[in-house]
Amino acid sequence: MARLNTADGEVVIHVKGLRNAFGAQVVHDGLDLDVRRGEIIGVVGGSGTGKSVLMRSIIGLQPPQAGTVEVFGEPMIGRDDYEAQQVRRRWGVLFQAGALFSTLTVAENVQVPIREYYPQLDDQLLDEIAAYKVAMSGLSPEAGPKYPSELSGGMRKRAGLARALALDPQLLFLDEPTAGLDPISAAAFDELIRSLQRTLGLTVFLITHDLDTLHAICDRVAVLADKRVIAVGTIPELLALDHPWIQEYFNGPRGRVAAEAAERVAARETGE
Ligand SMILES: Nc1ncnc2c1ncn2[C@@H]1O[C@H](COP(=O)(O)OP(=O)(O)OP(=O)(O)O)[C@@H](O)[C@H]1O
Ligand SMILES: [Mg+2]
Repeated sequence: MARLNTADGEVVIHVKGLRNAFGAQVVHDGLDLDVRRGEIIGVVGGSGTGKSVLMRSIIGLQPPQAGTVEVFGEPMIGRDDYEAQQVRRRWGVLFQAGALFSTLTVAENVQVPIREYYPQLDDQLLDEIAAYKVAMSGLSPEAGPKYPSELSGGMRKRAGLARALALDPQLLFLDEPTAGLDPISAAAFDELIRSLQRTLGLTVFLITHDLDTLHAICDRVAVLADKRVIAVGTIPELLALDHPWIQEYFNGPRGRVAAEAAERVAARETGE
């Protein structure tokens, strides 16, 4: 059963009491987080605060020591039955390091998850689907037959996105998708994510350090610190909190520049 909250909409990801530790190092302790259907939620926190580990716990690659994770209303931890597999099919993931298979072309990379779930599809159909996903990710058709080593960093991110979109996901996990991109490519990638979210009705779990991304496309932002999510809200809501890390992050020199840039874009869009 999907978890419903009439005030805030349907909860797609529900994390409760999560604990992750590596030896004596406790990364998460009592971490709670709800992600609502259709939102882009930005996940921020200092390096090493456990953003990637949180994502890996949600998608089942990092079994936590305690806590619960529900996705689309299904408890996910330690499960590999049919229902859990059906839930997994409904999400796509872009890992921090890209994680494309270096011996496969872009098109073949996109086909990997499709072959896994639909082994009966013939090659021609697979090629057509891959070409469609490559185009959706803003790559030119010539990128399809290229190997990851023949792509620029930005193209690799788009190829990773094409693969994440392979199974028509309803939920997208993106770990630092704009890291290492020049500002123009990063802004274009943000726009792509926003338009995919709007046209496909996606829910997006977006880990980022990119202040411009947070301002431009995130509906809410979750802040990781002290081994848990210390706050979730819009940027103005977060700024109303008197937390030193949040103030420093959003109100420091870089944060203010990003906020001003976002205001200029908003003013242009509304024609003021
Ligand atoms: N498989 C692992 N084994 C041991 N320690 C790990 C493992 N994965 C992560 N860690 C540790 O957990 C902590 C959180 O790592 P994580 O990768 O989630 O950080 P992060 O918030 O994503 O950082 P960044 O912003 O740099 O990507 C780090 O101290 C890391 O060394
Ligand atoms: Mg990380």
